[in-house]
Amino acid sequence: MLAAGLGYCLHVRSLEAALVHNWPDELTRDPAIIHFAMSMARPLYAEHCSSCHGRDLRGNHNVGAPDLTDSVWLYGDGDIGDLEASIRYGIRSGHPKAHNVTDMPAEGRSHQLSAAEIHAVIEYVLALSREPHDAAAAERGHKLFYDKGNCYDCHANDAKGNTDYGAPSLLGADSLYGRDRRMLYESVYSGRHGMCPAWAGKLAPVQIRALAVFLYIESHADSSDAPRRLLPEKAP
Ligand code: HEC
Ligand code: HEC
Repeated sequence: MLAAGLGYCLHVRSLEAALVHNWPDELTRDPAIIHFAMSMARPLYAEHCSSCHGRDLRGNHNVGAPDLTDSVWLYGDGDIGDLEASIRYGIRSGHPKAHNVTDMPAEGRSHQLSAAEIHAVIEYVLALSREPHDAAAAERGHKLFYDKGNCYDCHANDAKGNTDYGAPSLLGADSLYGRDRRMLYESVYSGRHGMCPAWAGKLAPVQIRALAVFLYIESHADSSDAPRRLLPEKAP
């Protein structure tokens, strides 16, 4: 009995060590480690992350928390190392290593754009995301996107966003705050400063690594490089 208990503890210790010390990219090749990481991460996600990102990981427009199940990323390209950095240091979290390159500027409040110009850029963003829109206003908004609004500078020429800045794509695949006119107005008039807490110091390194593996698996569920048969029952 005692020996079995001790054996189990040593087994858990060795899985923990493997989870923390292996290269992130190698982790997904080992079913035992993935299984271990998923079972550690699921309750952590439910306790610490689901209030903002949703129990189903699909995000929440009210706090600007992104969907974590798709292939659209604010920072990096969604590999385990990128996810781990976002979780460990957070985004605009106040941690010195947090992602914090730029914000969505308050283009209305700062009088960069007039009310009519904001209306026009909003119609243009709706056009970009293939939503119903006022075509004449969107045409004016298109011009503002590249000159007075300076939008292209962060969201890129093709509006696909920039993962170095954490500037989201405006093409509608995913959205932080939703695509209705009220939320778009709020984004452009008042600016946005989406915040994800830093978990360094609050969660152990092995827990942060486990969460990164969990998000990697959940977001690669449909791609060929995910060990699909290992996918657990749905998120917590
Ligand atoms: C207080 C709300 C809140 C909590 C709690 C929270 N997040 Fe976030 N998270 C956010 C917001 C908001 C963003 C987007 C920040 C931005 O706009 O740049 C984000 C972004 C992220 C990203 C970056 C995604 C990308 O597209 O690059 C990851 C990864 C992430 N969160 C993971 C987690 C994990 C794991 C937890 C729990 C340990 C957690 N978050 C807890 C609000 C939260
Ligand atoms: C200085 C860089 C910068 C400029 C200039 C800028 N943006 Fe942004 N924008 C951002 C960042 C960063 C975010 C993400 C904010 C966050 O994570 O909370 C964002 C968010 C947004 C959002 C919310 C997206 C979503 O998924 O809900 C919209 C809409 C938007 N920007 C439109 C515009 C338009 C239109 C312009 C030009 C009038 C513009 N932005 C100019 C950096 C910029």
